[in-house]
Amino acid sequence: MVYVDNDPMVPAHGRALLAVNERTAVVTSDLRDPAAILGDEAVKRLIDFDRPVGVMLVGILHHLHDDEDPRGIVEAYMAAVPSGSHLFITHFCDSSQDSRDAEKKFLALLGTGRFRTVAEITAFFEGYDLVEPGVVPLPLWRPEADLPEELTVGRRLMFGGIARKP
Ligand SMILES: C[S@@+](CC[C@H](N)C(=O)[O-])C[C@H]1O[C@@H](n2cnc3c(N)ncnc32)[C@H](O)[C@@H]1O
Repeated sequence: MVYVDNDPMVPAHGRALLAVNERTAVVTSDLRDPAAILGDEAVKRLIDFDRPVGVMLVGILHHLHDDEDPRGIVEAYMAAVPSGSHLFITHFCDSSQDSRDAEKKFLALLGTGRFRTVAEITAFFEGYDLVEPGVVPLPLWRPEADLPEELTVGRRLMFGGIARKP
């Protein structure tokens, strides 16, 4: 497992937590530079690109603006992994007026990026086989406990899905 983040504070804490684990690494790098990340020494040492890989873009793509080509970035990572690999994305979702109100507040904290619609988030998975139940609010992705009939705004803010590379 290799965790990548461009905030130098995050790897500093991660490295302290993982100091005794030789099978994980924390790399300071920028998601928008797939060549640097795929060529990183720790990535090459710990990830076996001859076997299916889990590419987890968790809470990160909403930091990227459209002109930074988030779809092309997803494709660059998926091109590097073999058939049978899985892509996991969670993303802030523009699904209602409530979520648009939340976006204004969140963007002040997130710094960069934007919420995307379900269709826009689903488009990141184009070319791969979305597994059931598709792109849904996170609490609805194979829930293990009963959920209230209506989710609160907070529980509908983040959508996610998983797809398999054919
Ligand atoms: C909401 S957090 C999610 C962290 C982690 N994926 C998780 O689920 O716990 C978003 C993280 O993305 C990092 N980040 C933002 N833009 C980035 C970029 N261009 N490249 C790498 N990391 C980035 C931030 O520093 C922050 O730690």
